Amino acid sequence: MSSGSNLRSEDQFLCSICLDVFTDPVSTPCGHNFCQTCITQNWEVNFPYKCPLCKEIFTSRPQLGVNTFIKEMVAQFRHEAQQEAGSSSSAAKPGEVPCDVCTGTKLKALKSCLVCQVSYCQTHLEPHLTTPGLKKHQLMEPVENLEDRMCLQHDKPLELFCKTDQTCVCSLCSVLDHKNHKFVPLREESEGKKAELKKTEAEVQKMIQSRRVKIQEIKESVKISKDAADREKAEGVQFFTALKEAAERGLEELIKEIQDKQKTAEKQAEDFIKDLEQEISELMKRSSEVKQLSQSEDHLHLLQSFSSLKAAPPTKNWTEVRVHPPSYEGTVVRAAAQMLEKMKEKMRKLLEAELKRVQQYAVDVTLDPDTAHPWLILSDDGKQVNCGNKRKKLPENPKRFYPCVNVLGQQSFSLGRFYFEVQIKGKTEWDLGVARESINRKGDITLSPQDGFWTVWLRNRNEYSACAGPSVRLHVQPGPEKVGVFVDYEEGLVSFYDVDAAALIYSFTGCCFTEELYPCFSPGLNDGGKNSAPLIICPVNKADCCTDETP
Ligand SMILES: *[C@@H]1O[C@H](CO)[C@@H](O)[C@H](O)[C@H]1NC(C)=O
Repeated sequence: MSSGSNLRSEDQFLCSICLDVFTDPVSTPCGHNFCQTCITQNWEVNFPYKCPLCKEIFTSRPQLGVNTFIKEMVAQFRHEAQQEAGSSSSAAKPGEVPCDVCTGTKLKALKSCLVCQVSYCQTHLEPHLTTPGLKKHQLMEPVENLEDRMCLQHDKPLELFCKTDQTCVCSLCSVLDHKNHKFVPLREESEGKKAELKKTEAEVQKMIQSRRVKIQEIKESVKISKDAADREKAEGVQFFTALKEAAERGLEELIKEIQDKQKTAEKQAEDFIKDLEQEISELMKRSSEVKQLSQSEDHLHLLQSFSSLKAAPPTKNWTEVRVHPPSYEGTVVRAAAQMLEKMKEKMRKLLEAELKRVQQYAVDVTLDPDTAHPWLILSDDGKQVNCGNKRKKLPENPKRFYPCVNVLGQQSFSLGRFYFEVQIKGKTEWDLGVARESINRKGDITLSPQDGFWTVWLRNRNEYSACAGPSVRLHVQPGPEKVGVFVDYEEGLVSFYDVDAAALIYSFTGCCFTEELYPCFSPGLNDGGKNSAPLIICPVNKADCCTDETP
């Protein structure tokens, strides 16, 4: 049986109730065939029982037989139809609209009918292309959820756009519920919306683009942080390797020094023993000569030799000779002190490099006159402050410190790193550091991180402390003339440096900053002129960079 003849015979295998190929075909007594389910359901709702095809009426519910021939033919037909479908049209793939009529393998739909609200494959579409009544139906490209395209109220396809209500309507809506509204064909409205969508698309593209740029940025910052980590590691390895080598060399030298001393002592003892043994052998020789002579019967010979043998041979007076065990007192201490000097030197170089690095983050800081205590005298350029002796008439201001003689910088920081240097030369008292915006400025102020201050101060000319709450006494000798303040906001780090000595004075670490941070200064009270020198914010010398440092 060719596939052509196969298709022509399809109507022979159609159930006249479901119009589909028979499923489990059964025969009525009048000889017509139906799907078992179709005829059973038909007889459950219709009475009296009659054949849906020839209308023959049965007085009682008839027995249904199975026509084996038809059943086999149907099975054969289905099998061949499936092979046919496999070659010409194909089963709907995911994303394609399936035919609503196909049972078993659902083929890909070619059209959807808006009137039937059904999607059809090539085979099942056929009646819509040929039957006069169906040819009037409105067909469209296949879509799913056809019911969404129908007016729920009038059961007609939505085919107009009501501009007044901004909604899709059917032809009945336009004359009933939306009377006197303005309408346009769906196509026209959709063209307009398409233009808007293009704009949206462009915007979305832009958002995608900006996010891609962000990813690039983040990747770049990861790379930067990795580079920084590598650099830091390399520096650490270099420093500690040098230290280890210096320690090993120091130990070698120490051991050699001790061994040399021991060897010298041993050598001396050996020499003494050799000399002594030499003398012993000479003395023994003399002893045997003397013995021999004393037994001699040759009187002349005895008398002639007597004078040369009477006296003992010349020997060394050993009474005072001693081998002194070498003294090792202080050997290890001296070597350790040398090692410490070397470490200090390396530490100094390390600090110099670090200071150069933080100096790269120098910012321009000026003093904010609105925050200054009325006794404080600020220079015109906002770079110097000292304490006068009388109160200036100034407008009251919630930002102003009173009665504590403080002043803040005008610039504030809430991210990244910043650094500034302040000259404190010739002063007996000062406070210096950073403060958060919400600090208490009126009445007594406690300088501590809990109260929003990260500061270091000088009291009584040479008492330095970090105001860490409780304060930490700092041993800074000689006192600095210029102090550098470095802040890494994200790291929660505030460090103070003696700029000229390139020494670290103190670090607050692990701080949690959530607000704006301001540079914070107090020149201290004038103290009858003893502490009248100004605090001076200095330009930072960042001439040479830290890349070419020598280890
Ligand atoms: C050896 O020297 C000690 C002190 O230097 C002296 O008392 C002693 O008499 C000397 N002995 C001889 C044998 O000269």
